[in-house]
Amino acid sequence: MIEKVTIATLKQMKSVGEKIACLTSYDASFARLQDASGVDVLLVGDSLGMVLHGDETTHKVTMSDMIYHTQLVHRARRRAMIISDLPYKSYQEPIQAFENASALINQGADLVKLEGGTALKEIVRALSRQDISVCGHLGILPQTLQQPSDYQVQAKTKQAAAQLKKEALILQEAGAVCLVLECVRAKVAQEVTQLLDIPVIGIGSGVDCDAQVLVVYDMLGLSAQHYKFSKNFLTGKDSVMTAFEDYVVAVKNKSFPGQAHSYQ
Ligand code: KIV
Repeated sequence: MIEKVTIATLKQMKSVGEKIACLTSYDASFARLQDASGVDVLLVGDSLGMVLHGDETTHKVTMSDMIYHTQLVHRARRRAMIISDLPYKSYQEPIQAFENASALINQGADLVKLEGGTALKEIVRALSRQDISVCGHLGILPQTLQQPSDYQVQAKTKQAAAQLKKEALILQEAGAVCLVLECVRAKVAQEVTQLLDIPVIGIGSGVDCDAQVLVVYDMLGLSAQHYKFSKNFLTGKDSVMTAFEDYVVAVKNKSFPGQAHSYQ
């Protein structure tokens, strides 16, 4: 019997300093390989709007898209935890957020993720009170960006770093059970990770976060765009499975991300 990864597992990993390996996942074939290779968390990210649909932003991703891809990933999942994104404008008020979050949970998501800080406090609180586990998302918020050139490193000033920490604490206090930090300066991400009891999942946010996530198409070298914080794990490997296994090892032994993939 395979023991499933739960939020309790992630908290335990945080407490003993074991790094958590996450990847985005959108279909059953990749999900099966990722799960078998030891990836702890499969994120059904709305980045699918860009890497699957070919759009410039995540704005056109719908609830139907997220339900469909959550179903596919859930079908192949054996051990890993599944987080599914609530798409753009699908959580503007508590009832709408609850209905949409429930739809994703009913299709196999263990947690839902939403983007934003203080403004989402009441939504996060309402979902948590109704037993929906929520992952927050701070730093770059792709749902609020207009174009790819808006992607900029976050928490560059003392003031911005303090604001980020404040918002992270607000989300935790409202009931979020984990938090994604996207493209946050490594030092600030380390401080947020230490400050919070909940696991912090970094992308472009340095090696000291509790967990790392990459967009699967980026780490297989399939994306048109190359990001400083990503790495092609397929280079020199003879299979996608080996690339996933190497990613998990690199996250666990802290060789990824290195300085070259982080912002100082
Ligand atoms: O949608 C997504 O893939 C994400 C990651 C970038 C964290 O939210």
